[in-house]
Amino acid sequence: MAAEDLPSEFDVVILGTGLAESVVAAAFSRVGQRVLHLDRRSYYAANWASFTFNALLTWIQQHHEGPQPEEVQDWSSLLEEGEELIYLSNSDSASISNLQVFCFTSEEDEEEETPNTTEEERGAADEDAVKETSESADLKEEESHQKPEETAARDGEQLTNKDTFDLLQASQNEGEEPNAHQPTPIAAPSQSEPTRKKISYAQLVKEGRRFNIDLVSKLMYSRGSLVDLLIKSNVSRYAEFKNVTRILTYRQGKVEQVPCSRADVFASRQLSVVEKRKLMRFLTSCAEETEEQRAYNGRPYLEFLTDQQLGENLQHFLLHSIAMVTEDTPTEEGLASTRHFLRCLGRYGNTPFLFPVYGLGEIPQCFCRMCAVFGGVYCLRHSVSGLLLERDSNRCKAVIDSRGQRINCSHFIVEEGFVGADRKRVATPPRFLSRAVLITDGSLLPSESEQQVSMVMVPPAAGGPVVRMVELCPSTMTCIPGTCEDLVHLTCQSVGSAYEDLSPVVTRMFRTPESHDQEKRPSVLWCLYFNMADGSGLEAEGHDLPANVYVCSGPDGALGHDHAVRQAEDIFQKILPEEDFCPPAPNPEDIIYDTENTSTGEDERQDREEDRQEDVREEDRQEDVREEDRQEDVRQEDRQE
Ligand SMILES: *[C@@H]1O[C@H](CO)[C@@H](O)[C@H](O)[C@H]1NC(C)=O
Ligand SMILES: *[C@@H]1O[C@H](CO)[C@@H](O)[C@H](O)[C@H]1NC(C)=O
Ligand SMILES: *[C@@H]1O[C@H](CO)[C@@H](O)[C@H](O)[C@H]1NC(C)=O
Ligand SMILES: *[C@@H]1O[C@H](CO)[C@@H](O)[C@H](O)[C@H]1NC(C)=O
Ligand SMILES: *[C@@H]1O[C@H](CO)[C@@H](O)[C@H](O)[C@H]1NC(C)=O
Repeated sequence: MAAEDLPSEFDVVILGTGLAESVVAAAFSRVGQRVLHLDRRSYYAANWASFTFNALLTWIQQHHEGPQPEEVQDWSSLLEEGEELIYLSNSDSASISNLQVFCFTSEEDEEEETPNTTEEERGAADEDAVKETSESADLKEEESHQKPEETAARDGEQLTNKDTFDLLQASQNEGEEPNAHQPTPIAAPSQSEPTRKKISYAQLVKEGRRFNIDLVSKLMYSRGSLVDLLIKSNVSRYAEFKNVTRILTYRQGKVEQVPCSRADVFASRQLSVVEKRKLMRFLTSCAEETEEQRAYNGRPYLEFLTDQQLGENLQHFLLHSIAMVTEDTPTEEGLASTRHFLRCLGRYGNTPFLFPVYGLGEIPQCFCRMCAVFGGVYCLRHSVSGLLLERDSNRCKAVIDSRGQRINCSHFIVEEGFVGADRKRVATPPRFLSRAVLITDGSLLPSESEQQVSMVMVPPAAGGPVVRMVELCPSTMTCIPGTCEDLVHLTCQSVGSAYEDLSPVVTRMFRTPESHDQEKRPSVLWCLYFNMADGSGLEAEGHDLPANVYVCSGPDGALGHDHAVRQAEDIFQKILPEEDFCPPAPNPEDIIYDTENTSTGEDERQDREEDRQEDVREEDRQEDVREEDRQEDVRQEDRQE
């Protein structure tokens, strides 16, 4: 690919495809700014990415090997009078550390026990998975249920989703593995069968493309800023969502479901009649701020709860599972958090949360797609080596890309990982998140429906951190459809390494070679621990960078996405204070491109439409070469305009 491929002037150049960067890219592109969006990596979404099992293994290996040594190229010949070059960091390797992997399942299938599964049976299992997906929540549902046309459109979208799924199947069959057409034995889908065999490591690898394993673990509050933005901008049309079906609690070694709705409360078998009444009265009373509550400002929420005579059981539910705060959180914060939870209930289901089908890594890509639809130019494996600083104005006039091309720009936005430690301001000591990803052979709380998405807050034990756990079933399309293998994500603020922080919780709640007396718990088949830099540690201001350079942080440790959305909006508003942030996008057929009055306009529009329809996710599964080809196509197209 020749360096001249890129236009040499953009309004905004963005390096890094994490959530905040992608939202900013979409916002600028949407209001007609010329956007160049680059990532040095070969995949979208930076530390917000989701990986197939195989891609995750590659990612682990790359981080074990450390950054590739790269010669710093001398671009000083490109400097003009009065300009200075600021080199960017070549890799973001510092953001991930302490990777540890454990495999507790057998390496290979045990031949004699392998269940015989025919191709038809396997197909049937996949059909089920498709059905599950088409039941997923649609963000537009609320707005659309009175309008028949929109319902029709929704049905159309579901069809698209089915097509997408079929595409994935097709791409698997085209895989290079010579035995890709062989029927693959899969575990029987019922957990109660005593003979159910553990899936082997060989099978995890073989079925690896059916995983979508997120590097971050968050949920979307149904009335949170991300969901609001997805709806407002119509970006929600590029993804599908499932509701989180259960909030669980872990107390005295037992996992139980937290009743959230009125119906749940009354149906609950864990609560006595008196407790049910007390809980309902409490939840009703905290909807509005009262004198009594104000009297507790500054004092712990636990104290307030205790004084409400709720009893220990309800206190535990309210503190850990509903407010999701710690024992020393002040009352006003605890109440605000409880109210937010209650406000989000019932919008899309029985819990306040949604989860995107195919994983959280979809969300940044949805915004990238919107940016591309409005003319944004995308290149992966392409970076910015340095910034050209105009000394007199202290502004970045242009960037030098990794191929030595000078690209003029008015604003430059960069993911914090690419900014050298000496130029950015971060919290001291630096903050980290501890993460674990487990593949297990069943749910912590088996139920009639195998397709549960559950969240559990595990209270701190012996000075350890509070651990947030999200259990994803195959219907989220993040783990192998048609099986009962689950994907479990654990997250906490780091105290020690991820292994030190989280393995005690894993041993306590699951069956591993180290656990004792855990016969009834699901087994861990495979697990990964790692630490990630906490994005909330990046200061908003005060970086040693030109005035028109903005820094976006990586993922923070909160459950929701407010941090990234706020960051994106702040950057957008600083640069274009008069413009609307992500106004609703028109239907694709109503978008009028500047180039459409040329003779090739019609074809190009067709291409764009196809490009929009084509699934970025799908492409990530393709050969690297194809990915590169597409990038080239997009650029070619842009150059022709
Ligand atoms: C980029 O900026 C330089 C100087 O500021 C100018 O000479 C050059 O023409 C610009 N390039 C383009 C393509 O606009
Ligand atoms: C599996 O299928 C093969 C051939 O279709 C058959 O010979 C074998 O007996 C089957 N094994 C079991 C356990 O059903
Ligand atoms: C949310 O999940 C529940 C339980 O699975 C389901 O009954 C409900 O229809 C879902 N809501 C939406 C909007 O999909
Ligand atoms: C976009 O969203 C607006 C409201 O946010 C809605 O009126 C419009 O129908 C949506 N368009 C599409 C194509 O979904
Ligand atoms: C295309 O539009 C531009 C301005 O929008 C105009 O100057 C040009 O003449 C148009 N070309 C054709 C072929 O209509």
